[in-house]
Amino acid sequence: MSIILSSATEAPAIIIRDIERVPEMREVETLQKDVWGSNDLDVVPLTMLVASREVGAVLVGAYDESMLVGFVYGFPAYENGQVTHHSHMLAVRPSYRNHNLAYKLKLAQRERVLAQSIKRITWTFDPLQSLNAYFNFGKLGVLADTYKINFYGEATSSFLHQIGTDRLWVTWLLDGERVRQRLQTEKKESMPVPERVPSLVQVALDGAPRRNEPSRVLGQEHLSIEIPSEINALQNKKPALAVEWREATRWAFMEAIASGYLVEEFCRSTRKGQSIGIYLLDHRKEF
Ligand SMILES: CC(C)(COP(=O)(O)OP(=O)(O)OC[C@H]1O[C@@H](n2cnc3c(N)ncnc32)[C@H](O)[C@@H]1OP(=O)(O)O)[C@@H](O)C(=O)NCCC(=O)NCCS
Repeated sequence: MSIILSSATEAPAIIIRDIERVPEMREVETLQKDVWGSNDLDVVPLTMLVASREVGAVLVGAYDESMLVGFVYGFPAYENGQVTHHSHMLAVRPSYRNHNLAYKLKLAQRERVLAQSIKRITWTFDPLQSLNAYFNFGKLGVLADTYKINFYGEATSSFLHQIGTDRLWVTWLLDGERVRQRLQTEKKESMPVPERVPSLVQVALDGAPRRNEPSRVLGQEHLSIEIPSEINALQNKKPALAVEWREATRWAFMEAIASGYLVEEFCRSTRKGQSIGIYLLDHRKEF
């Protein structure tokens, strides 16, 4: 099935459809290199795409006429005794971003995975990337209860992987009430920032991470972990500060998850003119 998208404004009509032909999979290799800036060795190759599709992988593209402008790729997986789908990559060409294409690709992936009678998709993302955090928690309604330190090693050839490759492991419960509700409205309201939630890490006025005493925070029903809104720009301008952010947020997520908190939401906010992102965690062990 394919979906045709067009907005009333200037966004081009985009078709969302399965990527089935071998030459089209070559374009997926190229798009990976363009989006992540990776070298050949760090790209998922065509042969892997072909073989995994034969055994249930889902590979969906967003096309502007014949040009591939985005894709999502994942494969069947086995986690904690049950069959799941693990989504490995999602990418949209920079000039096509912020037109909801990634969201439409995830909806197409969800539809195909549900058709295989699989009810959950997992994936990982860098918790310092505010855009991805908002996309995953705010638009899709994922949950996270696992933090992986340097999941792909200390760095890869991608410019997005230069301050380590720590990842939050997220779960998308495809048929759950939370996700159904989240997907009901196409345009998401920005989640209001709750008041008086104690924070493990805050963005200080100078932009540095400020750690708070865990004994004052852990044990509360809710807590927050803040991040700067533009980690990639910060990494270019002040690499040492970006590393400090990695260390502080790694500490905070590890402490919180070990104490039984679940990452549930992400809000965007401003404080004294400074844009920040705020993760909200709830003291609940399972979902
Ligand atoms: C992540 C990615 C796929 C998103 O693609 P996209 O088509 O622009 O995504 P969408 O338009 O569906 O949603 C993006 C949302 O992020 C929001 N956003 C943009 N910049 C943001 C920021 N700095 N902080 C928080 N949210 C931000 C947008 O406002 C939009 O939300 P809205 O629709 O409510 O306005 C794309 O940015 C990308 O390819 N990034 C590089 C690769 C990557 O990180 N892949 C995912 C991990 S594997």
